[in-house]
Parts: sequence; C-alpha cells; structure tokens
Amino acid sequence: VDLEAFVRGLPKAELHLHIEGSLEPELMFALAARNGIALPYPSVEAVRAAYAFSNLQDFLDIYYAGAGVLQTRQDFHDLAIAYFERAAADGVRHAEVMFDPQTHTDRGVAFAEVIEGLLSAMAQAQARLGLSSVLIMSFLRHLPQEAAFATLDMAEPWLDRIAAVGLDSSEVGHPPEKFEAVFAAAAAKGLKRVAHAGEEGPPAYVHQALDLLGVDRIDHGNRALEDEALVARLVAQKITLTICPLSNHKLCVVDDLAEHPIDRMLDLGLKATVNSDDPAYFGGYVGDNYLAVAKARGLSREALAQLARNSFTGSFLPAEAVASHL
Ligand code: ADE
Ligand code: ZN
Repeated sequence: VDLEAFVRGLPKAELHLHIEGSLEPELMFALAARNGIALPYPSVEAVRAAYAFSNLQDFLDIYYAGAGVLQTRQDFHDLAIAYFERAAADGVRHAEVMFDPQTHTDRGVAFAEVIEGLLSAMAQAQARLGLSSVLIMSFLRHLPQEAAFATLDMAEPWLDRIAAVGLDSSEVGHPPEKFEAVFAAAAAKGLKRVAHAGEEGPPAYVHQALDLLGVDRIDHGNRALEDEALVARLVAQKITLTICPLSNHKLCVVDDLAEHPIDRMLDLGLKATVNSDDPAYFGGYVGDNYLAVAKARGLSREALAQLARNSFTGSFLPAEAVASHL
C-alpha cells in the first residue's frame, strides 16, 4: 500500500486537539450567518489568507476572534461532530479533546452551552463512528489563576465528564508555577493534568509542569531537547509528548519541517506522538501531520507505527482499552 493509505490505516489516538482550533472557515461563515454576527473578512478565502503566523501570539489573536461565532450548544455540537468525522476518516479511534471554557464564558456564553454541545457530539461520535473521546478542560494561562479557579468551580456539575485539566494560550511570561494551586485543586478532585510547555517557553517550564503541576503528559515539549537532564527525566518517567508537526512549522517553532526533531525524539527514547493541535488553522488534520512529517523526515513505517502505538499508551484510556487498540 502507498504511504497515504498506510498512515490512514494505522489505528491512532489524537491527544492534542483544541476543538476551537478545528473551526474551518466555511463553518465560521455558516455560524456567523446563523447567529447574525459580522465577520471582519469578506470571504472564506480571505480568512484562509489571514492564516500566516510568525509566532504563537499571532495565531492566538486570530483564533480567539474566530471562536466568537460559537454561541449555542448546537454550534459546539456542529463544531465537534465535524472534527470527529474528519478524525475518523484519518483512522482516529480515540480523541482527547481540549476545550477553552474561558474563551466562551468571558463573552457571555454559558459553560453549560459549551460542554453540553461537546458532550452530545461525543456521544454521537461513539454511536455512529465508533470513536471514543474524553474532554480536557484547558485554562488560559494569560489570565490570572483566580479565573482558572472560577472555571473549575463552574465545571463542578460536570466533573465526572471531564478527564483532565490543561494549560494553554500565551506561554512565555506565564510559567506553570502561576497555576500550581489550581492544578492541585483539580488533582484533589480526581482530574488528570496536562500542560503546554516548551513550545515557545524554556525547558524550565517543562520541569515546572512536572514538579509543580504533576502533569501526566507534556503538550509540545519541543524545547526539552535543549536540556539533556530533562530528556533523561522524560525518558525515565515515560512522559508522553504530544507533538504537533504542522503547528510547529506554522508557528515557527521549527523553520522547516525537514528539520523537525520527531525522529530524534524517538531515537532518544522519548514517548512522542503526532497530533494536529489546531487543524483548521495549521493546514491539516492528524493524518496530514503524520504524512507531512513522514515525507519531510523520511520516517520508516515502523517509526510511524511506533508513534501511533505511543498515542494509545499515552492516552487516558483504561489499560484494557489501550490493549484492545494495540
Ligand atoms: N491554544 C490553541 N493552540 C495552542 C497552542 N499551540 N499553544 C498554546 N495555546 C494554544
Ligand atoms: Zn495546543
């Protein structure tokens, strides 16, 4: 079989996906029309043309603006089901879906609208596509820790439907230590923890995420490679890294996909995985990410299969479910 069929045929889990980042310009326009919202772009093509980023903040400014069309639980349902259909077509069997409640609650959308829309799409994905999923509630790190606590309080009625908390948005200047107390509170409520670290931020932020937040996984973690002792620690503790090749290229974390360190990570013994991050903004879903980095780095099929296996072993699925996918 050709490489494309091989990649799509690999059973895989997606561990790093912001549901707001799966908002395609076509759906953005449809929801804007449905909700009577004016967009600052004349066309779908103009929106796509605006997706040229030189760093994380460039992207975040456009991404938070785009999310403004999401208003009702039906909107969140439609957003998520569109993602699940694309993911299933790429061979995704399980998805751990991040959502940013503060992006919505801060503009007056009720937490219930957001999460109930996502949960109904998740149930439909399980029933119609055989795709399992869990939710990761991510705190926006550019906002104060008190705002994260308020979000954790809002989530209280749904905590049994949330697998983990996460930490995203502008990294530099907002170190993990800023959120130590709210992550401890989430842990006390039985939630798992993940955090973006080492995307633009230094290796010290990865150390902090492990030491102060007690994370089970690191989202990105690219800059861990600058610190030999940290690499040794991530290997010894079998910490999964959720790597996002097309995102890394579009946000200039790597200058060229041909220089992406994904195979170096595997060679070092790191538990690297391949994910899409914000597929509508970065030019591809998870299958495109595997294919692009496979071509750019000349990855073997064994390496691709290892990355796919790592996605299940690094997931929050129970051991029996992991075994059933391997
Ligand atoms: N929010 C959505 N995508 C993100 C990323 N790659 N880094 C930080 N915050 C994000
Ligand atoms: Zn991300």
